[in-house]
Amino acid sequence: MSEKYDLVVIGSGPGGYVAAIRAAQLGLRTAIVEKYGTLGGTCLNVGCIPSKALLQSSHHFEMATDEFSHHGIKAQVTLDLKTMMGRKDQVVQDLTQGVEFLMKKNKIDHIVGEGRITSPGAVSVEPAKSAKKGAKKKTLKTENIMIATGSEVTPLPGVKIDEKQIVSSAGALELKKVPKTLAVVGAGAIGLELGSVWGRLGAKVTVVEFLDYILPGMDGEVSKQMQRILAKQGMDFKLATKVTAAKASKAGVTLSVEPVSGEKGGGKKETLKADVVLVSIGRRPFTEGLGLKKLGVDMDGHGFITVDEDFQTNVEGVFAIGDVIGGAMLAHKAEDEGVVCVEIMAGQSGHIDYDAIPGVVYTWPEVANLGKTEEQLKEAGIAYNVGKFPFSANSRARCNADADGFVKILADAKTDAVLGCHIIGPEAGDLIQEVAVAMELSASAEDIARISHGHPGLSEAVKEAALAAGGRAIHI
Ligand code: FAD
Ligand code: NAI
Repeated sequence: MSEKYDLVVIGSGPGGYVAAIRAAQLGLRTAIVEKYGTLGGTCLNVGCIPSKALLQSSHHFEMATDEFSHHGIKAQVTLDLKTMMGRKDQVVQDLTQGVEFLMKKNKIDHIVGEGRITSPGAVSVEPAKSAKKGAKKKTLKTENIMIATGSEVTPLPGVKIDEKQIVSSAGALELKKVPKTLAVVGAGAIGLELGSVWGRLGAKVTVVEFLDYILPGMDGEVSKQMQRILAKQGMDFKLATKVTAAKASKAGVTLSVEPVSGEKGGGKKETLKADVVLVSIGRRPFTEGLGLKKLGVDMDGHGFITVDEDFQTNVEGVFAIGDVIGGAMLAHKAEDEGVVCVEIMAGQSGHIDYDAIPGVVYTWPEVANLGKTEEQLKEAGIAYNVGKFPFSANSRARCNADADGFVKILADAKTDAVLGCHIIGPEAGDLIQEVAVAMELSASAEDIARISHGHPGLSEAVKEAALAAGGRAIHI
Protein backbone atom coordinates (compact mmCIF):
# COMPACT_ATOMS: atom_id res chain seq x y z
CA MET A 1 0.00 0.00 0.00
CA SER A 2 1.36 3.44 -0.84
CA GLU A 3 0.01 6.75 0.48
CA LYS A 4 1.19 10.34 0.03
CA TYR A 5 1.64 12.59 3.03
CA ASP A 6 3.04 16.09 3.59
CA LEU A 7 4.68 14.90 6.81
CA VAL A 8 5.47 11.56 8.37
CA VAL A 9 6.59 11.79 12.00
CA ILE A 10 8.54 8.82 13.36
CA GLY A 11 8.06 8.53 17.13
CA SER A 12 5.08 9.67 19.19
CA GLY A 13 6.77 11.14 22.28
CA PRO A 14 5.98 14.72 23.32
CA GLY A 15 8.16 15.95 20.45
CA GLY A 16 6.52 13.83 17.76
CA TYR A 17 2.85 13.89 18.72
CA VAL A 18 2.76 17.63 19.43
CA ALA A 19 4.51 18.31 16.10
CA ALA A 20 1.94 16.10 14.34
CA ILE A 21 -0.96 18.07 15.87
CA ARG A 22 0.60 21.42 14.92
CA ALA A 23 1.23 20.11 11.38
CA ALA A 24 -2.42 19.05 11.07
CA GLN A 25 -3.53 22.47 12.36
CA LEU A 26 -1.43 24.04 9.59
CA GLY A 27 -3.19 21.89 7.00
CA LEU A 28 -0.44 19.31 6.41
CA ARG A 29 -1.60 15.75 5.71
CA THR A 30 0.20 13.97 8.51
CA ALA A 31 0.95 10.45 9.70
CA ILE A 32 2.65 9.37 12.90
CA VAL A 33 4.52 6.08 13.12
CA GLU A 34 4.99 4.51 16.56
CA LYS A 35 6.41 1.08 17.30
CA TYR A 36 5.29 1.00 20.94
CA GLY A 37 1.78 -0.23 21.79
CA THR A 38 0.59 3.15 23.04
CA LEU A 39 1.26 6.74 22.01
CA GLY A 40 3.13 9.31 24.11
CA GLY A 41 6.72 8.00 24.00
CA THR A 42 9.07 7.78 26.95
CA CYS A 43 7.44 10.73 28.69
CA LEU A 44 3.91 9.42 28.97
CA ASN A 45 4.62 5.69 29.17
CA VAL A 46 7.78 5.25 31.25
CA GLY A 47 9.03 8.74 32.10
CA CYS A 48 7.57 12.06 33.21
CA ILE A 49 4.04 10.87 33.88
CA PRO A 50 4.41 7.60 35.85
CA SER A 51 7.29 9.12 37.84
CA LYS A 52 5.24 12.18 38.75
CA ALA A 53 2.24 10.01 39.67
CA LEU A 54 4.44 8.03 42.08
CA LEU A 55 6.12 11.18 43.38
CA GLN A 56 2.70 12.58 44.27
CA SER A 57 1.48 9.36 45.92
CA SER A 58 4.69 8.85 47.89
CA HIS A 59 4.62 12.52 48.95
CA HIS A 60 1.10 12.00 50.34
CA PHE A 61 2.30 8.86 52.14
CA GLU A 62 5.22 10.71 53.68
CA MET A 63 3.02 13.62 54.70
CA ALA A 64 0.54 11.26 56.32
CA THR A 65 3.20 9.27 58.18
CA ASP A 66 5.59 12.06 59.21
CA GLU A 67 3.95 15.48 58.87
CA PHE A 68 0.23 15.29 59.66
CA SER A 69 0.88 14.95 63.39
CA HIS A 70 2.54 18.41 63.41
CA HIS A 71 -0.75 19.80 62.13
CA GLY A 72 -2.68 18.07 64.91
CA ILE A 73 -3.91 15.25 62.71
CA LYS A 74 -3.40 11.78 64.08
CA ALA A 75 -3.64 8.90 61.65
CA GLN A 76 -2.55 5.31 61.43
CA VAL A 77 -1.17 4.90 57.96
CA THR A 78 -0.44 1.75 55.99
CA LEU A 79 0.92 1.45 52.50
CA ASP A 80 -1.06 -0.30 49.76
CA LEU A 81 1.60 -0.39 47.06
CA LYS A 82 -0.58 -2.32 44.63
CA THR A 83 -3.23 0.40 44.65
CA MET A 84 -0.56 3.10 44.37
CA MET A 85 0.93 1.38 41.32
CA GLY A 86 -2.53 0.78 39.86
CA ARG A 87 -3.34 4.49 40.11
CA LYS A 88 -0.08 5.32 38.36
CA ASP A 89 -0.90 2.84 35.56
CA GLN A 90 -4.37 4.34 35.22
CA VAL A 91 -2.97 7.86 34.87
CA VAL A 92 -0.63 6.61 32.12
CA GLN A 93 -3.47 4.80 30.37
CA ASP A 94 -5.79 7.81 30.50
CA LEU A 95 -3.17 10.19 29.15
CA THR A 96 -1.91 7.90 26.37
CA GLN A 97 -5.52 7.33 25.29
CA GLY A 98 -5.91 11.09 25.37
CA VAL A 99 -3.12 11.36 22.79
CA GLU A 100 -4.84 8.69 20.67
CA PHE A 101 -8.01 10.80 20.81
CA LEU A 102 -6.06 13.91 19.76
CA MET A 103 -4.64 12.05 16.74
CA LYS A 104 -8.17 11.12 15.61
CA LYS A 105 -9.53 14.60 16.32
CA ASN A 106 -6.82 16.14 14.15
CA LYS A 107 -7.20 13.48 11.41
CA ILE A 108 -3.64 12.27 11.83
CA ASP A 109 -3.04 8.69 10.65
CA HIS A 110 -1.59 6.63 13.51
CA ILE A 111 0.47 3.83 12.02
CA VAL A 112 1.64 1.14 14.41
CA GLY A 113 5.05 -0.28 13.59
CA GLU A 114 8.74 0.41 13.28
CA GLY A 115 9.57 3.17 10.82
CA ARG A 116 12.61 3.08 8.56
CA ILE A 117 13.59 5.82 6.12
CA THR A 118 14.28 4.12 2.80
CA SER A 119 14.78 7.38 0.86
CA PRO A 120 14.19 11.09 1.60
CA GLY A 121 10.53 10.77 0.54
CA ALA A 122 9.70 7.29 1.84
CA VAL A 123 9.20 5.61 5.19
CA SER A 124 8.67 1.87 5.33
CA VAL A 125 6.80 0.54 8.35
CA GLU A 126 7.39 -2.97 9.67
CA PRO A 127 4.37 -4.26 11.57
CA ALA A 128 4.89 -4.10 15.33
CA LYS A 129 5.65 -7.40 17.11
CA SER A 130 2.21 -7.18 18.72
CA ALA A 131 0.48 -6.73 15.33
CA LYS A 132 -2.15 -9.21 14.10
CA LYS A 133 -0.88 -12.20 12.14
CA GLY A 134 -0.63 -11.40 8.46
CA ALA A 135 -0.08 -7.65 9.04
CA LYS A 136 1.96 -6.33 6.12
CA LYS A 137 4.85 -3.95 5.77
CA LYS A 138 3.75 -0.66 4.21
CA THR A 139 5.49 2.25 2.58
CA LEU A 140 4.46 5.82 3.23
CA LYS A 141 5.33 8.40 0.59
CA THR A 142 5.83 11.88 1.96
CA GLU A 143 7.21 15.35 1.26
CA ASN A 144 8.85 15.62 4.69
CA ILE A 145 10.00 13.25 7.42
CA MET A 146 10.47 14.17 11.07
CA ILE A 147 12.63 11.91 13.24
CA ALA A 148 11.40 12.11 16.84
CA THR A 149 12.67 8.77 18.10
CA GLY A 150 13.91 10.05 21.45
CA SER A 151 16.41 8.38 23.70
CA GLU A 152 17.17 5.25 25.69
CA VAL A 153 18.93 4.42 28.95
CA THR A 154 22.73 4.76 28.89
CA PRO A 155 24.15 1.43 30.04
CA LEU A 156 26.82 1.21 32.73
CA PRO A 157 29.72 -1.07 31.80
CA GLY A 158 29.96 -4.05 34.17
CA VAL A 159 26.38 -3.64 35.36
CA LYS A 160 23.71 -5.71 33.60
CA ILE A 161 20.19 -4.34 33.90
CA ASP A 162 17.63 -7.14 34.51
CA GLU A 163 14.77 -4.74 35.44
CA LYS A 164 14.16 -6.72 38.64
CA GLN A 165 17.14 -6.33 40.95
CA ILE A 166 19.23 -4.06 38.77
CA VAL A 167 16.79 -1.66 37.19
CA SER A 168 16.65 1.32 34.88
CA SER A 169 14.03 4.03 35.47
CA ALA A 170 11.48 1.78 33.69
CA GLY A 171 12.01 -1.04 36.21
CA ALA A 172 12.11 1.40 39.14
CA LEU A 173 8.58 2.48 38.19
CA GLU A 174 7.35 -1.11 38.42
CA LEU A 175 8.86 -2.56 41.63
CA LYS A 176 6.50 -5.06 43.26
CA LYS A 177 7.59 -4.28 46.82
CA VAL A 178 9.48 -1.57 48.63
CA PRO A 179 13.15 -2.58 48.77
CA LYS A 180 14.75 -2.32 52.21
CA THR A 181 17.81 -0.85 50.57
CA LEU A 182 18.12 0.93 47.23
CA ALA A 183 21.41 1.98 45.67
CA VAL A 184 21.06 4.67 43.02
CA VAL A 185 23.87 5.15 40.52
CA GLY A 186 23.83 8.76 39.30
CA ALA A 187 22.60 11.84 41.18
CA GLY A 188 20.74 13.43 38.27
CA ALA A 189 17.01 14.02 37.84
CA ILE A 190 16.01 10.35 37.60
CA GLY A 191 18.16 9.18 40.50
CA LEU A 192 16.90 11.87 42.86
CA GLU A 193 13.24 11.67 41.82
CA LEU A 194 12.93 7.88 41.92
CA GLY A 195 15.28 7.67 44.91
CA SER A 196 12.84 10.05 46.66
CA VAL A 197 9.84 7.89 45.73
CA TRP A 198 11.26 4.70 47.24
CA GLY A 199 12.91 6.54 50.13
CA ARG A 200 9.56 8.04 51.13
CA LEU A 201 7.97 4.59 50.99
CA GLY A 202 10.58 3.18 53.36
CA ALA A 203 13.74 2.20 51.45
CA LYS A 204 17.15 3.26 52.76
CA VAL A 205 18.60 5.06 49.73
CA THR A 206 22.29 5.47 48.94
CA VAL A 207 23.22 7.54 45.91
CA VAL A 208 26.57 6.87 44.23
CA GLU A 209 27.67 9.77 42.02
CA PHE A 210 30.74 10.07 39.81
CA LEU A 211 31.11 13.83 40.31
CA ASP A 212 31.76 15.49 43.67
CA TYR A 213 28.37 17.23 43.58
CA ILE A 214 24.79 16.31 42.71
CA LEU A 215 22.53 17.66 39.95
CA PRO A 216 25.19 18.64 37.41
CA GLY A 217 24.21 21.62 35.29
CA MET A 218 22.35 23.28 38.14
CA ASP A 219 23.63 26.37 39.94
CA GLY A 220 26.36 25.30 42.40
CA GLU A 221 24.60 26.75 45.44
CA VAL A 222 21.45 24.83 44.50
CA SER A 223 23.37 21.53 44.19
CA LYS A 224 24.92 21.99 47.63
CA GLN A 225 21.73 23.02 49.43
CA MET A 226 19.66 20.31 47.74
CA GLN A 227 22.15 17.70 48.84
CA ARG A 228 21.82 18.93 52.42
CA ILE A 229 18.02 18.84 52.22
CA LEU A 230 17.94 15.32 50.76
CA ALA A 231 20.48 14.11 53.33
CA LYS A 232 18.20 15.50 56.05
CA GLN A 233 15.41 13.43 54.50
CA GLY A 234 17.57 10.32 54.95
CA MET A 235 19.31 9.94 51.56
CA ASP A 236 22.99 8.98 51.77
CA PHE A 237 25.47 10.21 49.19
CA LYS A 238 28.74 8.72 48.03
CA LEU A 239 30.19 11.40 45.79
CA ALA A 240 33.28 11.27 43.56
CA THR A 241 32.70 7.53 43.48
CA LYS A 242 32.37 5.14 40.58
CA VAL A 243 30.71 1.76 40.30
CA THR A 244 32.97 -0.82 38.70
CA ALA A 245 30.83 -3.96 38.92
CA ALA A 246 27.51 -5.32 40.14
CA LYS A 247 26.69 -8.89 41.08
CA ALA A 248 23.11 -9.94 41.62
CA SER A 249 22.18 -12.97 43.73
CA LYS A 250 19.16 -14.12 45.73
CA ALA A 251 20.49 -12.17 48.69
CA GLY A 252 20.59 -8.90 46.74
CA VAL A 253 23.08 -6.96 44.66
CA THR A 254 26.70 -6.34 45.57
CA LEU A 255 28.11 -3.20 44.00
CA SER A 256 31.85 -2.67 43.78
CA VAL A 257 32.62 1.03 44.16
CA GLU A 258 35.84 3.00 44.24
CA PRO A 259 36.89 6.64 44.45
CA VAL A 260 37.25 8.56 41.23
CA SER A 261 40.96 9.27 41.10
CA GLY A 262 41.90 12.89 41.57
CA GLU A 263 38.50 13.79 43.08
CA LYS A 264 37.93 14.50 46.73
CA GLY A 265 35.65 12.72 49.18
CA GLY A 266 35.25 9.37 47.43
CA GLY A 267 36.69 7.19 50.19
CA LYS A 268 38.21 3.78 49.57
CA LYS A 269 37.47 0.76 47.36
CA GLU A 270 34.54 -1.04 48.91
CA THR A 271 31.41 -3.04 48.27
CA LEU A 272 27.90 -1.83 48.78
CA LYS A 273 24.97 -4.21 49.25
CA ALA A 274 21.46 -3.31 48.18
CA ASP A 275 18.19 -5.13 47.49
CA VAL A 276 17.75 -3.10 44.32
CA VAL A 277 20.13 -0.99 42.24
CA LEU A 278 18.83 1.81 39.99
CA VAL A 279 21.11 2.75 37.11
CA SER A 280 20.40 6.37 36.18
CA ILE A 281 23.55 7.75 34.61
CA GLY A 282 21.89 9.51 31.69
CA ARG A 283 20.19 8.73 28.39
CA ARG A 284 21.55 8.40 24.87
CA PRO A 285 19.93 9.08 21.48
CA PHE A 286 17.87 6.28 19.95
CA THR A 287 18.28 5.87 16.18
CA GLU A 288 18.44 2.09 15.79
CA GLY A 289 16.71 0.68 12.74
CA LEU A 290 16.00 4.06 11.12
CA GLY A 291 18.38 3.47 8.24
CA LEU A 292 20.27 6.72 8.87
CA LYS A 293 23.72 5.45 7.90
CA LYS A 294 22.51 4.28 4.51
CA LEU A 295 20.67 7.56 4.01
CA GLY A 296 23.83 9.51 4.94
CA VAL A 297 22.34 11.49 7.84
CA ASP A 298 25.06 13.22 9.87
CA MET A 299 25.38 12.38 13.56
CA ASP A 300 27.84 13.67 16.16
CA GLY A 301 30.35 11.61 18.13
CA HIS A 302 27.69 10.72 20.72
CA GLY A 303 25.14 9.54 18.14
CA PHE A 304 22.91 12.65 18.27
CA ILE A 305 21.48 13.66 14.89
CA THR A 306 22.89 17.01 13.77
CA VAL A 307 20.42 19.59 12.47
CA ASP A 308 20.50 23.19 11.25
CA GLU A 309 18.51 26.07 12.80
CA ASP A 310 15.39 24.83 10.97
CA PHE A 311 15.87 21.34 12.48
CA GLN A 312 16.71 19.94 9.03
CA THR A 313 19.38 17.27 8.80
CA ASN A 314 21.97 17.33 6.03
CA VAL A 315 19.46 15.32 3.94
CA GLU A 316 16.81 17.59 2.42
CA GLY A 317 13.31 16.91 3.67
CA VAL A 318 14.50 14.92 6.69
CA PHE A 319 14.14 16.76 9.99
CA ALA A 320 14.86 15.78 13.59
CA ILE A 321 13.75 17.13 16.98
CA GLY A 322 13.69 16.24 20.68
CA ASP A 323 16.01 13.99 22.67
CA VAL A 324 17.50 12.50 19.50
CA ILE A 325 19.19 15.82 18.61
CA GLY A 326 20.61 16.40 22.10
CA GLY A 327 20.61 19.45 24.32
CA ALA A 328 18.40 19.34 27.41
CA MET A 329 16.51 16.04 27.37
CA LEU A 330 13.19 17.49 28.42
CA ALA A 331 9.66 16.87 27.21
CA HIS A 332 8.77 20.55 26.81
CA LYS A 333 11.99 21.22 24.88
CA ALA A 334 11.05 18.39 22.48
CA GLU A 335 7.53 19.84 22.12
CA ASP A 336 8.81 23.34 21.41
CA GLU A 337 11.24 22.04 18.80
CA GLY A 338 8.51 19.98 17.14
CA VAL A 339 6.19 22.98 16.85
CA VAL A 340 8.86 25.37 15.55
CA CYS A 341 10.15 22.79 13.07
CA VAL A 342 6.68 22.19 11.61
CA GLU A 343 5.87 25.91 11.46
CA ILE A 344 9.08 26.55 9.51
CA MET A 345 8.23 23.59 7.25
CA ALA A 346 4.86 25.24 6.58
CA GLY A 347 6.53 28.51 5.56
CA GLN A 348 6.25 30.36 8.86
CA SER A 349 9.17 31.58 10.93
CA GLY A 350 10.12 30.56 14.44
CA HIS A 351 12.91 30.17 16.92
CA ILE A 352 13.53 28.81 20.41
CA ASP A 353 15.22 30.73 23.20
CA TYR A 354 16.99 27.82 24.87
CA ASP A 355 17.92 30.05 27.83
CA ALA A 356 14.25 30.47 28.67
CA ILE A 357 13.50 26.73 28.90
CA PRO A 358 13.03 25.78 32.55
CA GLY A 359 14.35 22.54 34.01
CA VAL A 360 12.52 21.11 36.99
CA VAL A 361 13.39 18.22 39.28
CA TYR A 362 10.26 17.07 41.09
CA THR A 363 11.76 16.11 44.43
CA TRP A 364 10.27 17.74 47.53
CA PRO A 365 11.10 20.53 47.73
CA GLU A 366 11.26 20.90 43.96
CA VAL A 367 14.30 22.28 42.18
CA ALA A 368 13.89 24.57 39.17
CA ASN A 369 16.44 26.30 37.02
CA LEU A 370 16.30 28.76 34.15
CA GLY A 371 18.91 30.63 32.13
CA LYS A 372 22.44 31.06 33.36
CA THR A 373 23.96 29.79 36.60
CA GLU A 374 26.36 31.88 38.65
CA GLU A 375 29.20 29.64 37.47
CA GLN A 376 28.31 30.27 33.81
CA LEU A 377 28.10 34.04 34.29
CA LYS A 378 31.46 34.10 36.04
CA GLU A 379 33.03 32.06 33.27
CA ALA A 380 31.56 34.39 30.63
CA GLY A 381 32.84 37.44 32.55
CA ILE A 382 29.35 38.95 32.83
CA ALA A 383 28.83 41.24 35.84
CA TYR A 384 25.63 40.35 37.69
CA ASN A 385 23.63 41.07 40.81
CA VAL A 386 22.21 38.29 42.98
CA GLY A 387 18.77 38.66 44.52
CA LYS A 388 18.01 35.87 46.97
CA PHE A 389 15.04 35.26 49.19
CA PRO A 390 14.54 32.26 51.52
CA PHE A 391 11.18 30.49 51.82
CA SER A 392 11.65 30.62 55.60
CA ALA A 393 10.78 34.35 55.29
CA ASN A 394 7.73 33.73 53.05
CA SER A 395 4.51 33.72 55.04
CA ARG A 396 2.68 31.18 52.87
CA ALA A 397 5.61 28.73 53.01
CA ARG A 398 5.54 29.06 56.80
CA CYS A 399 1.77 28.44 56.89
CA ASN A 400 2.29 25.36 54.75
CA ALA A 401 5.31 24.14 56.77
CA ASP A 402 7.31 24.11 53.53
CA ALA A 403 10.04 26.59 54.39
CA ASP A 404 13.12 24.83 52.93
CA GLY A 405 14.88 26.52 50.02
CA PHE A 406 15.12 29.89 48.32
CA VAL A 407 14.55 31.86 45.14
CA LYS A 408 17.67 33.27 43.51
CA ILE A 409 17.46 35.72 40.62
CA LEU A 410 20.55 36.70 38.67
CA ALA A 411 20.29 40.07 36.95
CA ASP A 412 22.70 41.88 34.65
CA ALA A 413 24.64 44.42 36.74
CA LYS A 414 24.38 47.09 34.01
CA THR A 415 20.91 46.58 32.52
CA ASP A 416 19.09 44.68 35.31
CA ALA A 417 17.92 42.15 32.64
CA VAL A 418 17.06 38.79 34.18
CA LEU A 419 19.81 36.34 33.20
CA GLY A 420 18.89 33.35 35.36
CA CYS A 421 16.70 32.07 38.12
CA HIS A 422 17.24 29.13 40.48
CA ILE A 423 14.67 27.93 42.95
CA ILE A 424 14.58 25.24 45.60
CA GLY A 425 11.19 25.24 47.19
CA PRO A 426 7.56 24.21 47.23
CA GLU A 427 6.08 24.31 43.69
CA ALA A 428 9.39 25.65 42.35
CA GLY A 429 8.53 24.25 38.91
CA ASP A 430 5.43 26.41 38.66
CA LEU A 431 6.92 29.46 40.35
CA ILE A 432 9.76 29.67 37.83
CA GLN A 433 7.31 30.09 34.94
CA GLU A 434 6.80 33.73 35.90
CA VAL A 435 10.52 34.34 35.47
CA ALA A 436 10.48 32.46 32.15
CA VAL A 437 7.83 34.89 30.91
CA ALA A 438 9.97 37.78 32.15
CA MET A 439 13.03 36.46 30.31
CA GLU A 440 11.08 35.85 27.08
CA LEU A 441 9.82 39.46 27.24
CA SER A 442 13.31 40.80 28.07
CA ALA A 443 12.06 42.11 31.41
CA SER A 444 14.30 43.40 34.17
CA ALA A 445 14.37 42.20 37.78
CA GLU A 446 12.71 45.51 38.68
CA ASP A 447 9.83 44.71 36.29
CA ILE A 448 9.13 41.52 38.26
CA ALA A 449 9.53 43.37 41.55
CA ARG A 450 6.94 46.00 40.55
CA ILE A 451 4.27 43.43 39.62
CA SER A 452 1.65 42.85 42.30
CA HIS A 453 1.79 39.33 43.74
CA GLY A 454 -1.12 37.86 45.70
CA HIS A 455 -0.67 37.58 49.46
CA PRO A 456 0.03 35.27 51.16
CA GLY A 457 1.52 33.46 48.18
CA LEU A 458 4.63 31.44 47.44
CA SER A 459 5.20 33.67 44.41
CA GLU A 460 5.89 36.57 46.76
CA ALA A 461 9.28 34.91 47.26
CA VAL A 462 9.96 35.50 43.54
CA LYS A 463 8.99 39.16 43.88
CA GLU A 464 11.20 39.52 46.98
CA ALA A 465 14.17 37.89 45.18
CA ALA A 466 13.63 40.38 42.32
CA LEU A 467 13.56 43.22 44.87
CA ALA A 468 16.70 41.80 46.48
CA ALA A 469 18.51 41.98 43.11
CA GLY A 470 18.07 45.76 43.43
CA GLY A 471 19.13 45.69 47.09
CA ARG A 472 15.67 46.43 48.45
CA ALA A 473 13.95 43.24 49.62
CA ILE A 474 11.29 44.04 52.23
CA HIS A 475 11.01 40.94 54.40
CA ILE A 476 14.69 40.15 55.06
P1 FAD B 1 10.47 10.03 23.33
O1 FAD B 1 9.49 10.48 24.32
O2 FAD B 1 11.59 9.17 23.79
O3 FAD B 1 9.66 9.27 22.22
C1 FAD B 1 10.25 8.60 21.16
C2 FAD B 1 9.28 7.58 20.61
O4 FAD B 1 9.79 7.10 19.37
C3 FAD B 1 9.09 6.35 21.49
O5 FAD B 1 7.72 6.15 21.73
C4 FAD B 1 9.66 5.20 20.66
O6 FAD B 1 8.96 3.97 20.84
C5 FAD B 1 9.46 5.73 19.25
N1 FAD B 1 10.34 5.16 18.24
C6 FAD B 1 11.69 5.06 18.27
N2 FAD B 1 12.16 4.54 17.12
C7 FAD B 1 11.09 4.30 16.35
C8 FAD B 1 10.92 3.78 15.04
N3 FAD B 1 11.96 3.42 14.28
N4 FAD B 1 9.66 3.66 14.56
C9 FAD B 1 8.58 4.01 15.31
N5 FAD B 1 8.69 4.52 16.54
C10 FAD B 1 9.93 4.68 17.06
N6 FAD B 1 11.21 15.37 30.97
C11 FAD B 1 10.57 16.45 31.47
O7 FAD B 1 10.53 17.48 30.81
N7 FAD B 1 9.95 16.41 32.69
C12 FAD B 1 9.95 15.30 33.45
O8 FAD B 1 9.39 15.30 34.55
C13 FAD B 1 10.63 14.15 32.97
N8 FAD B 1 10.65 13.01 33.69
C14 FAD B 1 11.28 11.91 33.19
C15 FAD B 1 11.30 10.77 33.96
C16 FAD B 1 11.92 9.63 33.48
C17 FAD B 1 11.92 8.39 34.34
C18 FAD B 1 12.50 9.63 32.19
C19 FAD B 1 13.15 8.40 31.64
C20 FAD B 1 12.49 10.77 31.42
C21 FAD B 1 11.88 11.92 31.91
N9 FAD B 1 11.86 13.11 31.18
C22 FAD B 1 11.23 14.21 31.69
C23 FAD B 1 12.49 13.22 29.86
C24 FAD B 1 11.42 13.08 28.75
O9 FAD B 1 10.75 11.86 28.91
C25 FAD B 1 12.07 13.16 27.38
O10 FAD B 1 12.85 14.33 27.28
C26 FAD B 1 11.01 13.18 26.29
O11 FAD B 1 10.21 12.03 26.36
C27 FAD B 1 11.65 13.28 24.90
O12 FAD B 1 10.66 13.29 23.95
P2 FAD B 1 10.90 12.81 22.45
O13 FAD B 1 9.61 13.09 21.76
O14 FAD B 1 12.13 13.40 21.92
O15 FAD B 1 11.16 11.23 22.55
P1 NAI C 1 21.34 12.94 34.23
O1 NAI C 1 22.23 13.25 33.13
O2 NAI C 1 20.36 13.93 34.73
O3 NAI C 1 22.19 12.47 35.50
C1 NAI C 1 23.08 11.41 35.43
C2 NAI C 1 24.02 11.48 36.61
O4 NAI C 1 24.81 10.30 36.61
C3 NAI C 1 25.00 12.65 36.55
O5 NAI C 1 25.03 13.28 37.80
C4 NAI C 1 26.32 12.00 36.19
O6 NAI C 1 27.44 12.70 36.70
C5 NAI C 1 26.16 10.65 36.86
N1 NAI C 1 26.98 9.59 36.29
C6 NAI C 1 27.31 9.38 35.01
N2 NAI C 1 28.06 8.27 34.90
C7 NAI C 1 28.20 7.77 36.15
C8 NAI C 1 28.85 6.63 36.69
N3 NAI C 1 29.50 5.78 35.91
N4 NAI C 1 28.78 6.42 38.02
C9 NAI C 1 28.11 7.28 38.84
N5 NAI C 1 27.48 8.38 38.37
C10 NAI C 1 27.51 8.60 37.05
O7 NAI C 1 20.59 11.59 33.78
P2 NAI C 1 19.34 10.84 34.36
O8 NAI C 1 19.06 11.23 35.77
O9 NAI C 1 19.57 9.41 34.03
O10 NAI C 1 18.17 11.40 33.47
C11 NAI C 1 18.20 11.24 32.04
C12 NAI C 1 17.50 12.37 31.36
O11 NAI C 1 16.12 12.36 31.66
C13 NAI C 1 18.05 13.70 31.81
O12 NAI C 1 18.62 14.33 30.70
C14 NAI C 1 16.90 14.47 32.33
O13 NAI C 1 16.81 15.75 31.74
C15 NAI C 1 15.68 13.66 31.94
N6 NAI C 1 14.79 13.67 33.09
C16 NAI C 1 14.18 14.82 33.42
C17 NAI C 1 13.39 14.89 34.52
C18 NAI C 1 12.75 16.15 34.85
O14 NAI C 1 12.80 17.06 34.05
N7 NAI C 1 12.13 16.27 36.01
C19 NAI C 1 13.15 13.73 35.38
C20 NAI C 1 13.88 12.57 34.96
C21 NAI C 1 14.64 12.57 33.84
